Amino acid sequence: MRPNTLTALLAAGLLTGAVMLASAAARENAPFILPDLPYAADALEPVIDAQTMEIHHGRHHRAYVNNLNLKVNEYPRLKTLNLEQLQREISSFDTAVRNNGGGHYNHSLFWTLMAAPGQGGEPGKALMAAIERDFGSVDALRTQFSAAAAGVFGAGWAWLIVRDDGRLAITTTPNQDNPLMDIVAERGTPILALDVWEHAYYLKYRNKRADYVEVWWQVVNWTEVERRFGNAQARK
Ligand SMILES: [Fe+2]
Repeated sequence: MRPNTLTALLAAGLLTGAVMLASAAARENAPFILPDLPYAADALEPVIDAQTMEIHHGRHHRAYVNNLNLKVNEYPRLKTLNLEQLQREISSFDTAVRNNGGGHYNHSLFWTLMAAPGQGGEPGKALMAAIERDFGSVDALRTQFSAAAAGVFGAGWAWLIVRDDGRLAITTTPNQDNPLMDIVAERGTPILALDVWEHAYYLKYRNKRADYVEVWWQVVNWTEVERRFGNAQARK
């Protein structure tokens, strides 16, 4: 091996090591990461337009992640908690962690709960039985959930949760709060979520939130809702 080749290899090795150390340090100080969308930005068209998805994910969600990472030095404990654990003890942190930690969890969940129109399947047997037991029918669930979403004053979320007693319930939260948080009135495991902040719909639907909520059902990923329902049942 020629000396200059050896030098180049050594340099490359040192560089690789330095890059690995630097990225490890970056992860240490910025442990929260923006997940990729599980589909293309235009996959939910025409229900949710690509520009809304790009801004919602690439700017709003990214800002929650970045702002949460800015709190790591102040709260080193953030490095030891996963996103769900953080929600369950959110009362130990300040308002910025509540808003941005909630925003990161809520949006990470929300993306997975949608699929291209016609690709989201239908509620499976176990979930259907629970829906019929607790709401009477899927139509009744939709009507109640949509009314709850339309009724959120200002920015917030509508949720379908599995309560600790195993029953399904519809709740809403303001801002970026969610039903896992140890500060909300009705707690439970979210299996369906709808973002009713104006940033989720205003470009296409303007002030007509009810129109957005109505067509949003076309992109619900029932396969994922069913999977989360199964996990929530298994944890009991
Ligand atoms: Fe949002």
